[in-house]
Amino acid sequence: MIQKMRGTMDILPAEMPTWRFIEEKAREISARFGFEEIRFPTFEATELFSRGVGGTTDVVQKEMYSFTDRDGRSITLRPEGTACVARSLIENGLCSDTMPKKLFYLINCFRYEKPQAGRSREFFQFGTEMFGAAHPAADAEVIALADTLIRSLGIKDAQLHINSIGCPECRARYHAALKEYFAARQEQLCDTCKGRLQTNPMRILDCKSPICGEIGKDAPVMLDYLCDDCRDHFETLKKLLDAHGIAYDIDTRIVRGLDYYTRTVFEFICPSIGAQSTICGGGRYDGLISEIGGPSLPGIGFATGITRLILAMKLNGVEITEDNAPALYIAPMGSAAVEKAAKIVSSLRKQALYTETDLVGRSLKAQMKYADKKHARFTLILGDSEIESGKAQLKNMQTSEQTEVDINDIEPLASLLR
Ligand code: HAM
Repeated sequence: MIQKMRGTMDILPAEMPTWRFIEEKAREISARFGFEEIRFPTFEATELFSRGVGGTTDVVQKEMYSFTDRDGRSITLRPEGTACVARSLIENGLCSDTMPKKLFYLINCFRYEKPQAGRSREFFQFGTEMFGAAHPAADAEVIALADTLIRSLGIKDAQLHINSIGCPECRARYHAALKEYFAARQEQLCDTCKGRLQTNPMRILDCKSPICGEIGKDAPVMLDYLCDDCRDHFETLKKLLDAHGIAYDIDTRIVRGLDYYTRTVFEFICPSIGAQSTICGGGRYDGLISEIGGPSLPGIGFATGITRLILAMKLNGVEITEDNAPALYIAPMGSAAVEKAAKIVSSLRKQALYTETDLVGRSLKAQMKYADKKHARFTLILGDSEIESGKAQLKNMQTSEQTEVDINDIEPLASLLR
């Protein structure tokens, strides 16, 4: 039997109400904050991610689904959305639109990671990106959007962690301090981190190896190295988060796994969902647009993993069900009745009423059992005598009450079903 690829998932009908609920909330809340939806290709030129996300990140080094297409170009299934939205903004001339430009997306992403609860190789994100706003008020607003979504899904135990990783100027001083710290402990670092020491020492802080994690605990922290502008930005952000009524923890260990970030970085963490507890991650990326060939334009955004939101909702006792029961089930007996039933269901569906009839040739008893299983609100049995008289008994399945209806006049029947 052919099975799905490791790390991918089937989302079955029973799970769809929860997915739809999250997607609808995401759209509705985005609209409340003035964000517009954008869609973009599933695959892009590999260079977009190596330049945008950064050549020293795990995502680019180990996790991309890259391949050469029939024309010999290296293409990559998007591992995330930010670089794609930035590319689209530049390519479509939107960098000169009225700013800030506020966009959101619901996408699938691909990363070759070791699958476990909350981590898959094809996964789904709701993300937002705001361009052209350098003020910390933009950071606070983007965080407020994420917070509003998470709370509106009934996730009560998510904690917001914020940090600042500075700008290229102050980060250069920080990198030097980190290099010195880790160089003195080089022998204990994993092989990957020995390389990172030269290319990007901040990535060591993100290493999943327990030994590197332990060494990283006492490493210098970026907040001690911020330049005046970056410190002011962070201080103002904290005041604005207070103004929005959003609680946060300052977490100097948050460095994020993607290279484009500058200044603000943040994560919403739900410890109860297990090892993959980050339900949402984001930050500012003031250098990304120019890095991939656009003008100098600041940006800030976040993305949430939908499966992690679902895990968090379940653990918070949130259950979403949808009730799509037929308004009417018509049980026809004989070929004339089958034709009449087809006519009636067709007319009622045009009036937006969910109506079903027999499609498999069941006996009357089996049809009634089916109607019951589907929780049909009303049933109508059609036999030769009903066709002849033009009258049938509409049965309310809950009260068993019967009402005679004219089967040749749809309007009164439709109003009884509404
Ligand atoms: P990220 O932290 O790589 O950031 O991913 C964002 C979220 O996507 C994570 O917090 C997690 O919930 C979910 N996620 C990531 N990888 C997986 C996976 N393998 N399986 C399931 N869920 C996963 C970004 O992608 C940035 N583009 C976010 C951003 C937008 N920053 C600025 N704007």
